[in-house]
Amino acid sequence: MSPEPNPEAAISLRGVRKAFGGKIVLDDINLDVMPGETMVIMGGSGSGKSTTLRLMIGSFPPTAGRIVILGQDIGDATEKQLNAVRTQFGILFQSGALFNSMSIADNIALPLREHTDLDEEIIDIQVKIKLELVGLREHADKLPSQISGGMKKRAGLARALALDPKILFYDEPSAGLDPVTSAQIDQLIVALSKQLGVTSVVVTHEMDSAFTIADRMAMLDKGRILTVESRQWYEQLRDLTDDGAAPRPEDDRLIRQFLRGDSHGPITERRDASAFEADLFGP
Ligand SMILES: Nc1ncnc2c1ncn2[C@@H]1O[C@H](COP(=O)(O)OP(=O)(O)OP(=O)(O)O)[C@@H](O)[C@H]1O
Ligand SMILES: [Mg+2]
Repeated sequence: MSPEPNPEAAISLRGVRKAFGGKIVLDDINLDVMPGETMVIMGGSGSGKSTTLRLMIGSFPPTAGRIVILGQDIGDATEKQLNAVRTQFGILFQSGALFNSMSIADNIALPLREHTDLDEEIIDIQVKIKLELVGLREHADKLPSQISGGMKKRAGLARALALDPKILFYDEPSAGLDPVTSAQIDQLIVALSKQLGVTSVVVTHEMDSAFTIADRMAMLDKGRILTVESRQWYEQLRDLTDDGAAPRPEDDRLIRQFLRGDSHGPITERRDASAFEADLFGP
C-alpha cells in the first residue's frame, strides 16, 4: 500500500495513530474504503473499532498519520471545511439517538431544517421518501418511545439518510436487537448500499451480520489492523478445518478463532498467558 493517501478512495487512512493521555489505542492504521463498498471493521472489545470510526467522522484528530475523507484532509481542515464534509455523512449511532420529544417524522426532518433552506413541503416529501426506504411510513407521527428498538434503528437510519449522504457510518447496528430484527437491519443495510450506491463503514462484532453485509472486512486486534481482505477470503479462513488451519500464521489462526467464536485458539492462549504473567509479576 502506498504511503500516501489514495485519491480514489472515499476514505483513506495512512499511518494513523491515536493515543489518549499517552496510552496508544490505535497504531499504524492503513485503510482505504473505496466508493460504493461496504467495509466492515471487526475486532474484540477494546480493539479500537469505535475509535477508528470516530477518527473517520472527525470527532477527534489523529495523534499521528493522515486521514482523507471525500478528498478533504481532516488534519488541515478548518472547522468550516470539516462541517462541509460532515454534511456528506450519515451516522447511525448505537442507540439510534433520536430526540424523544419529537415525532419520528420531525426527527428525520431535523437535519434538513438545520442544513438546508428547503421549503417545508419539499422537506415533507423528503421525509416520506426516507421513511418509505426504511419501511416506517405508517409510523411517521409516533414518538420514539412508542416504537420498538428495531424500529428506532430504522428511524435513526432514515435520519442518517436525510441529507442523501455519500458515506454511511454504523456503530454496532444490530446491538441489542433480537436475531430476526437484526437480520432485517442487515438486509436493509445491503439494500441501501445497492439502491443508493453509498459507501458504508460498519463496526460490528456480530459475525453473521458481518458476513451478510461486507464487501471487504478489516480485522482489528489490540489497536492494529491484522488484515483487510474480501468477505470471501474471510469465509475461506473461517471454514478451514483444524488441520487446514494449523500451518497458517498465528494472525490468521487468531482471526479464524474470532470468526468462529471458538473457545480454543490464539486469542484464549494469549489471554491465559497474560493472566498468568499478571499473577506472577502484577498487572
Ligand atoms: N475518549 C477516550 N479516552 C480514553 N480512552 C479511550 C477513549 N475512547 C476509547 N478509549 C480506549 O481506547 C481503547 C479502544 O476503545 P474502542 O471504544 O475504540 O474499542 P471498541 O473496539 O469499539 O470496543 P467495544 O467492542 O467494546 O465497543 C479502549 O482501551 C478504550 O478504553
Ligand atoms: Mg465500540
